[in-house]
Amino acid sequence: MIIGFVQTKGGTGKSTLAVNMAFSRTMHREFDSIALVELDSQGTLKSWWDERQEMSYNCRNVSFHHISSSQKEVFQQGIKAISAHNDLMIMDIPGEGTGKLHTRFACAFCDLVIIPLRTSTNDETAFMNNLYPIIKQIIQAVPEKRDNFFVLPVFVHPLVNPRKCYEYFDEMLPAYISCLEAVYPSRAVYENFNRQGLNLQEYSKLVENNKKYRQQVERAIEDIENISQTIIKTGRMIHG
Ligand SMILES: Nc1ncnc2c1ncn2[C@@H]1O[C@H](COP(=O)(O)OP(=O)(O)O)[C@@H](O)[C@H]1O
Ligand SMILES: [Mg+2]
Repeated sequence: MIIGFVQTKGGTGKSTLAVNMAFSRTMHREFDSIALVELDSQGTLKSWWDERQEMSYNCRNVSFHHISSSQKEVFQQGIKAISAHNDLMIMDIPGEGTGKLHTRFACAFCDLVIIPLRTSTNDETAFMNNLYPIIKQIIQAVPEKRDNFFVLPVFVHPLVNPRKCYEYFDEMLPAYISCLEAVYPSRAVYENFNRQGLNLQEYSKLVENNKKYRQQVERAIEDIENISQTIIKTGRMIHG
């Protein structure tokens, strides 16, 4: 399965979601080999991964690949080679910096395109103006792709009912875009867990004696497992 986090707008949680999903229990149960692929020349994930390597943390069946080239043939060949050797590939796609080349490719290549989106008028308008036209073009060219695009509501207040969020997006989203039945809540722990190359599980061990932090991280782990399960279920429904 090939999953891409795609959003032409930056700061919507793509990289954080990609990392946490790659290390989730759900994905480890389902897939023997998991490739986490960063296509951003900034290399946010690469720095984090390098720290992990320095600290010799166990990466289990997750491999990391940083493809910084924005040359079409180079990055596309790289991605295809990685996907051929892994059961699950999770791609972190950069925003607009590269003339939407990566965005176009990911929208056409992935089995599931996850679009992290806030319930904010600005972000919804940006999505309709920037990303949706690309998706429409791809569906026009390859109609079989029409079921692959899903919004994940992100930075949702933890007390908001996820069902309400789903109903909101289900109502406002255009043709060919569905809403996942999971949300990614806003939590301070997502800004802190990854210091020194840690993942959420490792961070939870680090803070196990602090009740407040421990509760936060346990909730975050639940969010990620829930999102991962929903994504797998959705992928199976579409592609069997
Ligand atoms: N669920 C969340 N709640 C609060 N802050 C978050 C959450 N997910 C990510 N962040 C923070 O938001 C910022 C942007 O996240 P990031 O994953 O880098 O987005 P992107 O890759 O889309 O640019 C980072 O500072 C990150 O720590
Ligand atoms: Mg990023």
